[in-house]
Amino acid sequence: MSTLINVKDDAAVRLITINRPEKKNALKQEMYAGMISALTAANSSPHIRACVITGSGEYFTSGNDLADFAAQSGDGGATPAAEFPRVLATMEKPILVAVNGPAVGVGVTMLLQCDLAYAADSATFRAPFVDLALVPEGASGLLAPTALGTMKANQLLLLAETWGAAEAANAGLVAGVFAKSILLDEVMARAHKIAAKAPAAMRASKALLGHNRAQTLAFIEHAHKIFSDRIASEEFAEAASAFMIRRPADFSRFT
Ligand code: COA
Repeated sequence: MSTLINVKDDAAVRLITINRPEKKNALKQEMYAGMISALTAANSSPHIRACVITGSGEYFTSGNDLADFAAQSGDGGATPAAEFPRVLATMEKPILVAVNGPAVGVGVTMLLQCDLAYAADSATFRAPFVDLALVPEGASGLLAPTALGTMKANQLLLLAETWGAAEAANAGLVAGVFAKSILLDEVMARAHKIAAKAPAAMRASKALLGHNRAQTLAFIEHAHKIFSDRIASEEFAEAASAFMIRRPADFSRFT
């Protein structure tokens, strides 16, 4: 497993830490693969009853590695990045998130597919898909309006506003906010509480409370096709090259 993803089991709780702080925890394909294998192994392990995802250093994650995105071909169907939301949609055991700092892109959208997310007071939330000439990835186009309401979802996913931790909590994107120094302990304590409950009842309850799995998976496929077309677009090429040389993207020539 990639050292960019650290996995540590604390009794029945699996802690998964995104560990690429020098790149603000931007997610490369091998890192998605590391998270997928940690999650799927947890799902089938009789010893693990809950997972926690967090980031090391200042950021939770700055989202998908943009150089990785730019190197992707139009299809991208079998990549770990494409697989990640599918895996989240099929997890039977609860996933908690400790958003230890700024969350960008998939760092925001994954929260909609997890069960309990808590933020550090230093966390911010931004989903700049349209700014990158992309579309909201995974299940977020389906789940955000339901979880947050249409207007809040549009502020997040169309305007790409940056929210602070309090705003994210008010919108229902996270369940609560803690000082960064105690965030992980607070989330781990909740994960252990969940792990102490009847495991079959917990899995059945998560399934009842969750979104219709078949519908979510079908939506993910639909969104993925559109996302792949966007990756192959001239608009995205402009956005990616603008990021690489630190200039604002200029979409004025596109119709
Ligand atoms: N993909 C690839 N590299 C990234 C990255 C990403 N998503 N986010 C940060 N990095 C890299 C930077 O290129 C930089 O690398 P370098 O030191 O080799 O130059 C390093 O991480 C530090 O980032 P930097 O931009 O210098 O830090 P900052 O504090 O000024 O800004 C961000 C941090 C996250 C605001 C800024 O890097 C950013 O906007 N990243 C892109 C976020 C994004 O659009 N993600 C995709 C969402 S779909």
